[in-house]
Amino acid sequence: MLSCRMRPAGCHISTSCFPRKLWGAAFILCTLVMGVPAFPTPSAESTGATGNCSFRGKYFKEELRLEGEPVVLRCPLLRSYLEDSANPQHLVTWHENSSAQLIPVGEPRVQTKDDALWILPAVRGDSGMYICRLREASHCEEIAIELKIFEDAEAVLSLISYPQTLTLGADGMLMCPDTQDFSQDKGGMGVWWYKGPVLLGGAGGRFHNVEEKRRLLIVNVSMEDAGYYRCVLAFVHEGRQFNVTRHVRLRLHKQTDTVPVIISPLDTISASLGSRLTIPCKVSLGTSTPLTTSLWWIANFTQIDSAYPGGRVTEGPRGEYSANGENFVEVPLNFDPVIREDLSTDFRCIVSNTLGFQTLRTTVKEAPSTFSWGVALAPLTLVLLVLGGICLHKQWKRRAGKAYRLTTLRTGFQNFHSIPEK
Ligand SMILES: *[C@@H]1O[C@H](CO)[C@@H](O)[C@H](O)[C@H]1NC(C)=O
Ligand SMILES: *[C@@H]1O[C@H](CO)[C@@H](O)[C@H](O)[C@H]1NC(C)=O
Ligand SMILES: *[C@@H]1O[C@H](CO)[C@@H](O)[C@H](O)[C@H]1NC(C)=O
Ligand SMILES: *[C@@H]1O[C@H](CO)[C@@H](O)[C@H](O)[C@H]1NC(C)=O
Ligand SMILES: *[C@@H]1O[C@H](CO)[C@@H](O)[C@H](O)[C@H]1NC(C)=O
Repeated sequence: MLSCRMRPAGCHISTSCFPRKLWGAAFILCTLVMGVPAFPTPSAESTGATGNCSFRGKYFKEELRLEGEPVVLRCPLLRSYLEDSANPQHLVTWHENSSAQLIPVGEPRVQTKDDALWILPAVRGDSGMYICRLREASHCEEIAIELKIFEDAEAVLSLISYPQTLTLGADGMLMCPDTQDFSQDKGGMGVWWYKGPVLLGGAGGRFHNVEEKRRLLIVNVSMEDAGYYRCVLAFVHEGRQFNVTRHVRLRLHKQTDTVPVIISPLDTISASLGSRLTIPCKVSLGTSTPLTTSLWWIANFTQIDSAYPGGRVTEGPRGEYSANGENFVEVPLNFDPVIREDLSTDFRCIVSNTLGFQTLRTTVKEAPSTFSWGVALAPLTLVLLVLGGICLHKQWKRRAGKAYRLTTLRTGFQNFHSIPEK
């Protein structure tokens, strides 16, 4: 790789930008066979130290963060994680300002990881312009991102808050925004929601913390719910704990015809203990696309796979279909089997997309006992009938001749089908 020969630092930078295996191969080529390209050769003019990169200007979204908290800058030129993994043959580097100065990596406070720039934690002096440069086989692009680090959140509340809107009189969910990099599978240790100094989500209230999804469910949203909320996410990185704080400003609007609409399940579902049960959650999306629609279940405000690690209750596969020009999405909740605990558990189906949000609660009720007695007695009745049948048959056989009995024995197993042989 050319840049490798010209600037050894460039070689070092790429270590954290490439998947390990690819890096291994690249390293060998880079160090032993200097100058032999380890990656598809970028076009001649874009390989220089400063390069001939097209500059895309400043990214529209500023990163407004708090001092002492971790900051993750993702390169907006990489459109999605999906695209990232599908095309690993790119090189992302981070620079300060428009200078060619690469961000010093390896310093524990500033690292690059999966093409992102991590600052753990941020200090006031980190405020400024950051340039991410994306180099691919055929082209090179760069874009500037402005990072602003604030000391005191309260003083700049209106500036740093994310606006979110919910519908009056309905249930709604707030989302702890821009926290994908701190989710549970990446070291997130839980989320706490506050309104002013008050911790929300206590038992029996209208607020419920849906931790795994980093959301706050508000039941029957009312006027006094408007205002500022704060979610605090505890995050562990290489053994060190950090808090990640986001502020949300909730606005309310009056109820209108909303999409999506949950059309099933029913409020209460009858089931007998010990039996299997499937509750489908079916949602009508009108003409809007299922692509951006999330549909999931929670039990006692916990995601199903966390609530039932043993897998007694699971979410079934998601189904999508359309009928009469209307799109539907469906996710069933499967019980195998139903136990007494389910009768006191709060099951909710939740659907959310860019157009709206809906949640529907369903309760499992024990099926009337007479019904289960009937089910229990059915086999007994059948046994009695069969025994009775055999008795009658024996009496009838005794009267019949010896030769005839031989025939019956040979074909005896067919007698229950009540189709006489001749
Ligand atoms: C940069 O690229 C443009 C067009 O792609 C070309 O005209 C120009 O000569 C290049 N500059 C350098 C320094 O390579
Ligand atoms: C950006 O560049 C200016 C001068 O060019 C310098 O004063 C400033 O410290 C730089 N900021 C960062 C974050 O590198
Ligand atoms: C929702 O709250 C309003 C008052 O804010 C109350 O009048 C209404 O009955 C509540 N609705 C439900 C379904 O609890
Ligand atoms: C995170 O916040 C909690 C509660 O506000 C506080 O007790 C804890 O010390 C904070 N942790 C760090 C690492 O700042
Ligand atoms: C849900 O909560 C109810 C009442 O608080 C409890 O009886 C039930 O066992 C809980 N269910 C689960 C799955 O934790």
